[in-house]
Amino acid sequence: MEDVLDRLCATVPDYPKPGITFKDLTPVFADPEGFRTIVDAIIAPFLGRFDLVAGIEARGFLLAAAAAYAAGTGVLTVRKAGKLPRTTFTEEYALEYGTAALEVHTTDIPQGARVLVLDDVLATGGTVGAAVRLVNRSGGTVVGVGVVLELDGLGGRAALAGQEIHSLQCVG
Ligand code: PRP
Repeated sequence: MEDVLDRLCATVPDYPKPGITFKDLTPVFADPEGFRTIVDAIIAPFLGRFDLVAGIEARGFLLAAAAAYAAGTGVLTVRKAGKLPRTTFTEEYALEYGTAALEVHTTDIPQGARVLVLDDVLATGGTVGAAVRLVNRSGGTVVGVGVVLELDGLGGRAALAGQEIHSLQCVG
């Protein structure tokens, strides 16, 4: 796992601003072995325990669709605000400057559904936290959170206290 990510993940210095080293997963997703490896690994800790996979816009969609197909479950898109046509639940989260929001339709998640939440990166945990609250408000239960990269030192795990979180790689 780590060797696949180390080999394929692109490291971009000074992006999105000076002093930040950005980990770009695009080449991992684009590689046949890389994509299969991360999808298999991200669902492995939760297999048999979920009946719906929720992917967070945008890169979480790719993981969630493949994970749901592999596990034989349904998939749900957790969308940025303003994209969904019917009545929604909305949960805001903090950005560096200001706030953003995620939404699901109020009827998207069957009552009692066991939901696995997937995203590409866990940083502050704000994004995943909003997705968890949406699942809970919808009457589902979050069985766990899977991410490819966990950025150490930004408080993501603390923000998601009580959740079972598995990351494929933790980077400083
Ligand atoms: C990135 C990433 C996660 C989120 C993690 O998404 O894909 O969803 O940030 O950060 P957090 O843990 O601090 O909330 P971004 O907001 O850049 O949106 P995008 O996926 O549409 O690029």
